[in-house]
Amino acid sequence: MDSIIVTGGGALEGQIPIAGAKNAALTLMPATLLSEEPLTLTNMPRLSDIRTMTALLSSLGTEVSALSQGQVVAMSSHTISNHTADYDIVRKMRASNLVLGPMLAREHHAVVSLPGGCAIGARPMDIHTIGLEALGAEIELKDGYLHAVARGGLKGAVHELRFPSVGATENLVMAATLAKGTTVLKNAAREPEIVDLVSCLKKMGAQIAGEGTSTIEIQGVDRLHGATHPVVTDRIELGTYMLAPVIAGGEVECLGGRISLIEAFCEKLDAAGVSVTETDAGIKVARKNGRVSAVDVTTEVFPGFPTDLQAQMMALMCTADGVSVLEEKIFENRFMHTPELVRMGANIDVQGGTATVTGVDRLKGAPVMATDLRASVSLILAGLAAEGQTTVNRVYHLDRGYEKIEDKLGNVGAKIERVRGI
Ligand code: UD1
Repeated sequence: MDSIIVTGGGALEGQIPIAGAKNAALTLMPATLLSEEPLTLTNMPRLSDIRTMTALLSSLGTEVSALSQGQVVAMSSHTISNHTADYDIVRKMRASNLVLGPMLAREHHAVVSLPGGCAIGARPMDIHTIGLEALGAEIELKDGYLHAVARGGLKGAVHELRFPSVGATENLVMAATLAKGTTVLKNAAREPEIVDLVSCLKKMGAQIAGEGTSTIEIQGVDRLHGATHPVVTDRIELGTYMLAPVIAGGEVECLGGRISLIEAFCEKLDAAGVSVTETDAGIKVARKNGRVSAVDVTTEVFPGFPTDLQAQMMALMCTADGVSVLEEKIFENRFMHTPELVRMGANIDVQGGTATVTGVDRLKGAPVMATDLRASVSLILAGLAAEGQTTVNRVYHLDRGYEKIEDKLGNVGAKIERVRGI
């Protein structure tokens, strides 16, 4: 298995291009199942999660071709030849469950494996299934698979989600595009990836209003057609790379970034004493003098501070001046990076969903093990500030969400290399 070796010290200078959003791409790809006509996505990130979704869609009968070195993905779901999303693929990536809504809408039946638990928490699917049942589906759990049927097709309804789940909102919006009549989703998620999905669905002929607010209204149509759509910028990759010069020192411009994608995160950087400026090309971030100040962070649904940037923010707080309290409100088990950061010399006390980080002057390099995607990258960031070498093992997590991380950080002066494993 590959590992990444980071040697700390040395300021970063230059530009980092930010890719299209993994989480947007993973909901835009299943949208192909809603139409017989081709859907082409541009600005696609080149990640192993995209290859997993490609494998899943191919197994359902979609023809998928990756062009321009993977930055353009053309899909055609003329016929759906298989209606089962197999456990072997779904267990690798929870976002596989996003084929449920579109298949049910177009084919009126689908069988999708339950994803099972994952490192960051139980992640059930009740909000998805209750919502689809409100649209007229009958769903039964058999042998670990959800068997869903919509006799006579889905029907529009007014439905309030018990929590604004991102994935459930995406599944329900896609399902409602082909339902009969009007659907009103209340307490819907407001994340930029949902706004991007709706923008693509509208190009395909869907009638939707209210995206980006907590009430989304969808007027069902008989059919959707083909479209070409550029994937929105990855706000999590953006926030991650914005932290690199803050942790290591220096100045980096993240190309393609906009503050509106991560306002809550930028406010915290500002409070910590970091300079964040929007430019014509992206966002410029600099730390030139001394340590940053400790700030408290609570993760929330959008527009709050994203849970997917909590581990990276903790890496910054490890060497901040003062004590910071990080509260994780979205996933119950998302502090697994803390024992690894402690091995690097960090002072962190975790009690339930709250981590108290007392900043230290310097971290020390160590061999560390990553447990999930964002935890892995937090260890790389910590390694940029640490004395000596940090070896991050189990890099396959990183490859799920960060394309060419060693090139992107290496190009701005980080000492980082990948060691190919067996
Ligand atoms: C998406 C993102 C993930 C991000 C998360 C929260 C993708 C591919 N992944 O995940 O990177 O961390 O949003 O911003 O877009 N829940 C239930 N029942 C459900 C569904 C969710 O209890 O039916 C709970 C989950 O266990 C979790 C919380 O709701 O505690 C948030 O989950 P959700 O918003 O659904 O996240 P995902 O869509 O899985």
